Amino acid sequence: MSGIDSVTIKLGTASYPVIIGAGVLADERVWVSRLNADGVLIVSNSTIAPLYLARLQSVLEKLNIPHQLCILPDGEQYKTLTTWQQIIDALLNMRANRKTTVIALGGGVIGDIAGFAAACYMRGIRVIQVPTTLLAQVDAAVGGKTGVNMPVGKNLVGAFHQPALVVADIDTLSSLPEREFRAGIAEVIKYGLIMDAGFFDWLQNNTDAILTKDAAALHYMVATSVAHKASVVSADAHEQGQRALLNFGHTFGHALETLTNYSKWLHGEAVAIGMLLACAYGEKTGRTAPEVTAKLNQLLGKIQFDISIPEDITAQNMIETMRSDKKASYAGLDLILLESIGAAVISRGHRPELLLKDFPMEYLG
Ligand SMILES: NC(=O)c1ccc[n+]([C@@H]2O[C@H](COP(=O)([O-])OP(=O)(O)OC[C@H]3O[C@@H](n4cnc5c(N)ncnc54)[C@H](O)[C@@H]3O)[C@@H](O)[C@H]2O)c1
Ligand SMILES: [Zn+2]
Repeated sequence: MSGIDSVTIKLGTASYPVIIGAGVLADERVWVSRLNADGVLIVSNSTIAPLYLARLQSVLEKLNIPHQLCILPDGEQYKTLTTWQQIIDALLNMRANRKTTVIALGGGVIGDIAGFAAACYMRGIRVIQVPTTLLAQVDAAVGGKTGVNMPVGKNLVGAFHQPALVVADIDTLSSLPEREFRAGIAEVIKYGLIMDAGFFDWLQNNTDAILTKDAAALHYMVATSVAHKASVVSADAHEQGQRALLNFGHTFGHALETLTNYSKWLHGEAVAIGMLLACAYGEKTGRTAPEVTAKLNQLLGKIQFDISIPEDITAQNMIETMRSDKKASYAGLDLILLESIGAAVISRGHRPELLLKDFPMEYLG
C-alpha cells in the first residue's frame, strides 16, 4: 500500500494506529483487518455527511457491517450534552452492544462529542476517529480527549477515551474552507516550535506547496505532526507532565478567545497569535533565543495569518484572563516557553506583575 502511512500511538494494550494518506477513507484494505465490529453508528454533521458519508458507507457495505446514522447540526454551539444525548439515544435505539463501534466522521467537534458518547455508553465502547479537518487530523482525533461544552466554559465535561483507530484521509482537506485550513496550520507550526526545528524549516520552505494543497506536502505535514503528537501522548497519556508542552501558545491564545467571546478568531488563529506572544515574552525575559520571534513572525506572514489584536484588549485584561484560566496556580502562571525553535520548557511561577512588566506590548493594538 504505497502512499499510506501508519503511526502507532503506543499505550500498551490500548495502542492504536493512525492511518494517513490520500483516499484511505474509501480504501477497504485500510479497514478490513482493523474494524472489528458487528455494528456501527456513524456520527457526522450536516455539512460533512453530504461530502464524505457515502465513501464510508460503501466500505461498510463491502465489509458487510450493518450501520446506523446520527447526523447532527454543524457548529461548536452543538457540542453539548443535548447532542451527546442524541448519540446515546441512537445507540440505545439500535440496541448497541459492546461490539458496536462508533465512527466519528468530521472535525474536532464531532470527534469530541462522539468520542464522549462512546466513552459513556455501557461504560465505554470502541470509537474510530475519521478526522476531516486539518486541526482534527493533526491534533483533536489523536490522544483520547473527548467532551462537551457547558454554558460556563468549554470542554468542562468529558473523559479520556482513546480511539481504536484513526483514519486521516488527506483528500478530505480539499473541501475544507480556506480559513479552517490555515487555522489548522497553527497547530502544525506548534509541533515544529516545541519539538522539531527541522520540521519548522521544512514548513518555512514549503508554504507554497502547503497552501496550494499539494498532496505530497499535505501528507508529509500531517504524518509528521501526528508522529509528534503520538510521541507526546505515548509518554504522558493523561497530561501529567510532557503533554503540557502541547499547550504552547494556548494560555495567551485562550485569553484572546475568551476576551472576544470566541467570536473573532478560530482557535488556530488565536493560537498563532498566542505562540507569537509567548515567543516575544520569552525573548524579553531572556528565556528564548533572540531570533525565534522574528522567524515565527515571518512564517505566520507567509501563511497570511492576521496577527493584529483589537485595541480594546490590554495586557492587564489578558493577564487577568490568563490567571483565571484553569491551569493557573497560586504561585503564578505556568507557561510553556521556547528556549529555541524545537525546544520547549515548562516555565513556572510567572507572577502577574512580572508578566505585565515584560508583556510584549508591541503586538497589542
Ligand atoms: N480532543 C482534543 O484533543 C481536541 C484538541 C483540539 C481541539 N479540540 C476541539 O475540536 C473542536 C474544533 O475542531 P475543528 O477545528 O475541526 O472544528 P469543527 O469540527 O467545527 O470543523 C470546522 C468546520 O469545518 C467543517 N468541516 C469539517 N470537515 C470538513 C471538510 N472536509 N470539508 C468541508 N467542511 C468541513 C465543519 O462542519 C465545521 O463547520 C473544538 O471543539 C475543540 O475544543 C479537541
Ligand atoms: Zn489547540
